[in-house]
Amino acid sequence: MNILCPVCKKKLIRTGNSCQCENRHCFDLAKEGYLNLNLHNSQNTGDNQDMIKARRNFLNRGYYSFLRDEIDGLLDENDSLIDLACGEGYYTSFFRCKDKIGIDLSKTGLKYASKHDKSTLYLLNSIFHNPLEEECADKVLTIFAPVAKEEIVRLLKKNGVFILARPDKDHLIELKQLIYEHPYLNETEEIPIDGLQLINEIPIKRKEKVAGQDITDLFMMTPYYNTTSQKDKDKLQTVDELEISFSFLIDVYRKY
Ligand SMILES: C[S@@+](CC[C@H](N)C(=O)[O-])C[C@H]1O[C@@H](n2cnc3c(N)ncnc32)[C@H](O)[C@@H]1O
Repeated sequence: MNILCPVCKKKLIRTGNSCQCENRHCFDLAKEGYLNLNLHNSQNTGDNQDMIKARRNFLNRGYYSFLRDEIDGLLDENDSLIDLACGEGYYTSFFRCKDKIGIDLSKTGLKYASKHDKSTLYLLNSIFHNPLEEECADKVLTIFAPVAKEEIVRLLKKNGVFILARPDKDHLIELKQLIYEHPYLNETEEIPIDGLQLINEIPIKRKEKVAGQDITDLFMMTPYYNTTSQKDKDKLQTVDELEISFSFLIDVYRKY
C-alpha cells in the first residue's frame, strides 16, 4: 500500500529509518518504528497513557480474544489491511495479512504497537484524513472507534470489505447496573455508509467473571469513564468479582 506525502501527495519512498517523496519532503520513523505524518495541529491526541495502559492490561488478559479470533476468520493472509484507530495494536498485531497498516492519533498507543509488532506499519495520523493512496486496501477495519465513512470508501478497492466491531445492546450491562441507577442498552441501529453495502451482521457474546483491577481497567476502556462522577466510579470498589456480558456486533460491508 502506498503512503503519500502529507505535504504534496507524492508517493513516499522508505529508505532506512526515513521516508521521502520526490519533492524531498522527509519524515523520520520514531525510534519505536511508527511514522508520524500528522501535520494537523488537532486538539485530538487520541487515548492518553492511562487509558492505553488500562486497555493493554485488560486485553492482554484475553477477555476479548474470542472477538479477535472471529475477525481473524474474516481475513485472508493475502489481504492488504488497514486498521483505522488501531490503538496499541492488540488486534492489528495478531492478524496474519501480508500487508498491514495501523492508524491512530495516540502516540502512547503507537509507541507500544510499533515496539511490539514489526509486522505492521503504524502511522500517527487522523483516521478522517489519512495519507494513503485511494483504493489500496482489500480490507479496512474499525474496532470500537469512530467510523470515518468517506475515508473507508476511498481506501477500499472495488469489492473490498469493511469490518466494523461495535458493542451490542447488552454489552457490559452488569457493569452499568452496578454504577448507574438507570442503565440503558446500547443503540445498535444499522450504520449506513454511502458506497458500501452491509452484507452480514455477526453477533457474538460471552459472559466472563472479571475480578479486581480488571474491573477498573475495563471501565477505563469505555466511553463512560470520562463522563461518570467519582462517586459513581467508587462503586466499582464495592465488588471483588462481577460476571459481565461481552456482546459484540461485527458488521461486514462490501464496496460496490
Ligand atoms: C476505544 S479505542 C479502540 C482502539 C482499538 N481499535 C481497540 O479496540 O483496541 C479508540 C481509539 O481511537 C483513537 N482515535 C480516536 N479518534 C481518532 C482520530 N480522529 N484519528 C485517529 N485515531 C483516533 C484513540 O486514540 C483510540 O486509540
